[in-house]
Amino acid sequence: MNNEIIIFDTTLRDGEQVPGCQLNTIEKIEVAKALEELGVDVIEAGFPISSPGDFKSVVEISKAVTKPTICALTRAVKKDIEVAADALQYAKLKRIHTGIGVSPWHIEHKIRTTPEEIILRAVEAVKYAKKFVEDVEFYAEDAGRADNEYLARVIEAVIKAGATVVNIPDTTGYCLPEEYAEKIKFLKANVKNIDKVIISTHCHNDLGMATANTIMGVLNGARQVEVTLNGIGERAGNTSLEEVVMTLKSHSYLNLHTNINTKLIYKTSRLVSTLMNMPVQPNKAIVGRNAFAHSSGIHQDGVLKKRENYEIINPVDVGINESAIILTARSGRAALKHRIEALGYKLSKDELDGIYSRFLDLADKKKVVNDDDIRILIGEAAQGEQP
Ligand code: KIV
Ligand code: ZN
Repeated sequence: MNNEIIIFDTTLRDGEQVPGCQLNTIEKIEVAKALEELGVDVIEAGFPISSPGDFKSVVEISKAVTKPTICALTRAVKKDIEVAADALQYAKLKRIHTGIGVSPWHIEHKIRTTPEEIILRAVEAVKYAKKFVEDVEFYAEDAGRADNEYLARVIEAVIKAGATVVNIPDTTGYCLPEEYAEKIKFLKANVKNIDKVIISTHCHNDLGMATANTIMGVLNGARQVEVTLNGIGERAGNTSLEEVVMTLKSHSYLNLHTNINTKLIYKTSRLVSTLMNMPVQPNKAIVGRNAFAHSSGIHQDGVLKKRENYEIINPVDVGINESAIILTARSGRAALKHRIEALGYKLSKDELDGIYSRFLDLADKKKVVNDDDIRILIGEAAQGEQP
């Protein structure tokens, strides 16, 4: 099986749906260019029928960005598909992403129809999209809560209708990693011609399992992952690009590769966070402020002896210059000495011992001891020694 994992970024579509994260066309172009530089393979640029602004953004991104495939979302509705095709007219590589709900919830309580009618509508949508573009992706919305036998029938029908990519979204973030893995495995084993198309994951993070589910999908045969920078997206968000990419990179024995230039991850994360006015939580994996920060004495001592003792990723690989040693009341002498030396001072063991006890007194009063505090501590110690 192919070892290339296609990165489909939906920061500008699923991510941008988040209240308060809306971007104007200029900002969307800036993000799209950054995604192109980062190396994503597919950019989902928007949902053109949803608003004139979204339509315009898809048009302008299609003109401004030429390396990745530009994808536009639609419902399984002819008008949506026509508008998406129109918005994609300038794209060098283009894809229409159409689909419909396939879970009992969506069929009975949202679309209010029958399972058979859903299959007819799905097939009709894919065939209609094929009139405009060669590359058609079908999403089986809420596949996470769908019956696997029925899902397999839907997927087989849309492949026959011409879908090139089949997306299996865990729309509500419901699945356990084993359940999602089983779903992909079941489709691989039971859908005719499944090996002729690309299976895509699209996971949401309602139970904090979006990345785990995505990785399980990949391990069971999915070759495209739908992700967003910083994991932004509806409710608790989507699978985060940086987590999936760095999981694959740090587990090199899996021999699964992406085209992402990982050294640009942090810069792109900051751009998205700033433009979307969406702060990144400090303990967010890979890009959070504390992702490479060490604050307890045992960890600081270990990481100063050898970085790998407490870091599975080199921060340089994601574009962060170095790990941070944060000085708190939990820090030990090794960390304090390291910081003092980094500030250009050289102290004897006795001098360090003297400063360390003052440092602890201060650290108990302050959350974090900064460089200026250390300079003051050293200055006070020097004054105390004068006759
Ligand atoms: O979560 C979802 O099901 C989606 C689809 C529109 C792909 O975002
Ligand atoms: Zn989604």
